[in-house]
Amino acid sequence: MVSDKNSKIWFLGRSYDEYIKMFSLNKEELKNIRILDCAAGASSFTSHLLRKGYDIKAVDILYNKNPEEIKKQCQNDFNTLLDVHSGLDNKVNWKFFKNPENMIEQRIKVYKEFITDYSLYKGIKYIEGHLPSLPFNDNYFDLVLSSHLLFLYQDRLGYDFHRKSIEEMLRISSDEIRIYPIVKLRGEGSKSEFLSRIIKELCNLANFEIVKVDYKFRRGGDEMLKITKT
Ligand SMILES: C[S@@+](CC[C@H](N)C(=O)[O-])C[C@H]1O[C@@H](n2cnc3c(N)ncnc32)[C@H](O)[C@@H]1O
Repeated sequence: MVSDKNSKIWFLGRSYDEYIKMFSLNKEELKNIRILDCAAGASSFTSHLLRKGYDIKAVDILYNKNPEEIKKQCQNDFNTLLDVHSGLDNKVNWKFFKNPENMIEQRIKVYKEFITDYSLYKGIKYIEGHLPSLPFNDNYFDLVLSSHLLFLYQDRLGYDFHRKSIEEMLRISSDEIRIYPIVKLRGEGSKSEFLSRIIKELCNLANFEIVKVDYKFRRGGDEMLKITKT
């Protein structure tokens, strides 16, 4: 993974409330199903649901690291995040967060919740996995969520990675996958070019639907991809 601030993939985490909005979820539908947060980073979605007794796991390429190493990685990323987001008022919508400082404050709260839980459940609920190959059995999960990796980082990950990753998520899911966002980074709000090609090439494996969501931070980021296995 390259690591200058313009080309790296951030190790950051969004909150439970953001996940609920980004993926148009409701608590009731999450009960009694197996959920995977794929490329979960420092999100607190998993810790929030684990505390409430839901059946959820998180997978990420960096979950081989111990909690101290992960903490350092998060702190490094926060230091550059403020720089990157200050002055982007014309590119992002500050409705959910009031301003860059408030965003960082919330992200720090989220990562602290994540670290506490990660220290307890590393290797049990937080599993190391490298897309496009995941360490889970066929059809194991009912719902696979993936936020802020695919499509967003299309310039770094390439088309084959995207196609193989979505095929892999279909393999481990018995029912549904949701991916958010479908716009590309620094694309001025335009959708990833990979989206229509993926839908065309994988339409015999699943139904693809672009769904409006009640969450918007980056320009054009009010849609997710819902994939239902046929
Ligand atoms: C921007 S973060 C998003 C984290 C979380 N999903 C969220 O929205 O808050 C992207 C995550 O993808 C992870 N990642 C990058 N490449 C990966 C791969 N090949 N397999 C699994 N995870 C990967 C990174 O370690 C990072 O945690």
